[in-house]
Amino acid sequence: MDSNPAPVPCRPQDWGKFEITKRDGAARIGRFHTRHGVVTTPMLLPVVNPNLRTIEPREMWEKYGVEALITNSYVIWKHEKLSIPAKSDGIHKLLDFPGAVVTDSGTFQSYVYGDVEVSPSEIVSFQREIGVDVGTMLDVFGRPDMSRGQIQHAVDETFNRAHLSLVEAGNDILLNGPIQGGLHHDLRAESARLMSQVQDSGRTFAVHPIGGIVPLMEQQRYLELFGIILAARSQIPPDKPIHMFGCGHPLLFPLSVALGVDFFDSAAYALFARDDRILTPEGTVKVQGLNEWPVTSSALFGKTPKMVLKMSKERRSEILAHHNLEITQSELARCREAIRNGTIWKLAEVRSHASPRLREAFEWVLDQLEELEDTEAGSTLLDLMASTNPIRKGGESLSGDIGFRPHVLHLLALISLRWRLPGSWWDGSSGPPERVLIIHNSAPPWRESALGSIVESLIENPKTVVLISTPLGPVPYSFEDVSPFCHIDGPESIWFNQSDQSESYGDVSYLGLGGIPIKISSSKTLEESSVEIRKIRTWLDRCSIVDKLSVFCGVHPKKLCEVSEKMESRRSNTDRMVNVSFNGEHVFSPRLKDGGISLTTEGARIMYSLYPGTPDLFGEEDLSEEEDHPGIPRVMISEDAIPFVGDGRNVMHGYILGADSHTTPGQPCVVVSQEGELIAHGVPTSTSLEMTAFKKGIAVKVRDGCLKE
Ligand code: GUN
Repeated sequence: MDSNPAPVPCRPQDWGKFEITKRDGAARIGRFHTRHGVVTTPMLLPVVNPNLRTIEPREMWEKYGVEALITNSYVIWKHEKLSIPAKSDGIHKLLDFPGAVVTDSGTFQSYVYGDVEVSPSEIVSFQREIGVDVGTMLDVFGRPDMSRGQIQHAVDETFNRAHLSLVEAGNDILLNGPIQGGLHHDLRAESARLMSQVQDSGRTFAVHPIGGIVPLMEQQRYLELFGIILAARSQIPPDKPIHMFGCGHPLLFPLSVALGVDFFDSAAYALFARDDRILTPEGTVKVQGLNEWPVTSSALFGKTPKMVLKMSKERRSEILAHHNLEITQSELARCREAIRNGTIWKLAEVRSHASPRLREAFEWVLDQLEELEDTEAGSTLLDLMASTNPIRKGGESLSGDIGFRPHVLHLLALISLRWRLPGSWWDGSSGPPERVLIIHNSAPPWRESALGSIVESLIENPKTVVLISTPLGPVPYSFEDVSPFCHIDGPESIWFNQSDQSESYGDVSYLGLGGIPIKISSSKTLEESSVEIRKIRTWLDRCSIVDKLSVFCGVHPKKLCEVSEKMESRRSNTDRMVNVSFNGEHVFSPRLKDGGISLTTEGARIMYSLYPGTPDLFGEEDLSEEEDHPGIPRVMISEDAIPFVGDGRNVMHGYILGADSHTTPGQPCVVVSQEGELIAHGVPTSTSLEMTAFKKGIAVKVRDGCLKE
């Protein structure tokens, strides 16, 4: 058996802290700190029935690297043969598990069997006594079929028990604060708001599980399920992990993770095994009738379905449970890897096709993302979109859903909000555009395929706005090397079957170009050079820098036009701008992988000089409407962090006093002192809302300190 070393206990001051190490929109890879080591999320807490251990907890730890599991404290409390050793030796010894132990409280038993005989304080006190890492208060299960009044009662009564539960838990154990609210989005949000505000001597709930959802999962009511998650999430503080109580089917992992779920728990691996069913990422399959395995695992390898069916019931369920746990673990590993490489939404999209009901739920989420209504779910999705880096390296696979992916929506929204017409044309003239040129039937890179037609049109009429036609709609030529536009992964035909009718491009109005005559042109490469053509290319380069800085950094193009008057650039072998200088100083490096822009220290200084000052202190935000171009986002740090950050160290959570609300993970920001001195510049990993909440982890990856000697 592979061995997994004993966990390294976290420092007491870190217990319950949640730190994000990687993110893709709302999806996050987290480190949750417990007495029995760090737990990496998103993860599944396998349910261990203390009376019937289908897979030994020790094996989970050693063979499968399970860092935490969940068991039921009420079941242990009820049975003396379990409660006596648990009290004397502790829960970890009872289960023979070295990692973190989470316990539930008996609420689910009250849902299944009616009442439980334990009081809210008694069960928390018991969990403390047996030394669990994370206990659960006795919440009131709100079933989806209950009336609104009954659900309101479940929310209120759960809240009424919350404070006494935190008092009972004391400093020894962390506590889950479940969110109830049935199918009612407003009650889910209310429950989340109430539960996240409860505190005793500064201690709050460490995790917020979403409760009362098992019946929905059993009945595959996924649309309602995801609606509830979005509604609850609108009021859960960003630094608290979210747990989907009773969810353990791999089919639901990718979308749940993409929407920000961190913990799952389920006995499904064991329950389905007992029923001769195996889990796959696309659904559940009965072993009876199978000739071959639809997915395999080390548990099934070398065995055929027939061989397994001939085994004793006990041996069979043991093997199938091992398989189910492996599949569950590997789907979560896939989700974590997708977060690391920025493809969690794509994975959710792919999995949505595995089940019509999941597809229905996914399409509902896409509708909500597009509409962003002023509802609980809409506000979560707005945060999700705003926290998604709008540009990313790597291919963007074509599908019917491509235009609804959060990073694509974010990018298009930013272009629509911040892109402006050029202040002057290449020949030095100014005034409104006289036409829009749309380059169609042309594949990227457009600087190679279409520059000839663009130059020709600009010579013919300098007051021409140049757009390129992409499967995501027409976009300004300035973004020709921005991913995803230039990295769409699809058949060649997507570039060559485009309309040559100007009426088909009515959507140029999202750029404020409605009503301007449109000329459609095919692509032609640039074969010649002349003084005039060089002038046009210099103008196009400058437009590209101005447009990217205005769209990605929020700086007004007018201000950028002023500072970029003496712009020069060096080109790579592949004819792309690599170093950009203003007045002979290197200020930006266009990023070749994703088409974004990296600032140099001088570039950051210039950007900041256009919008000097400090953001509001957290808690004292100015709630007035934000402008379209609020300037490069500023993160203000406390005095004790200045020497470190000024020297180039990262900005850590806990040292931030304020941040502009348009701070966007993945796009440049500056770091300033309370006096407005520029301390550093870098790339934020978090939104401003997250910066108000997190206490641990990196908030801004600093590119360079500005106080270096
Ligand atoms: N397990 C599944 N659902 C629930 C719930 O709503 N509350 C608790 N405490 N445990 C659960």
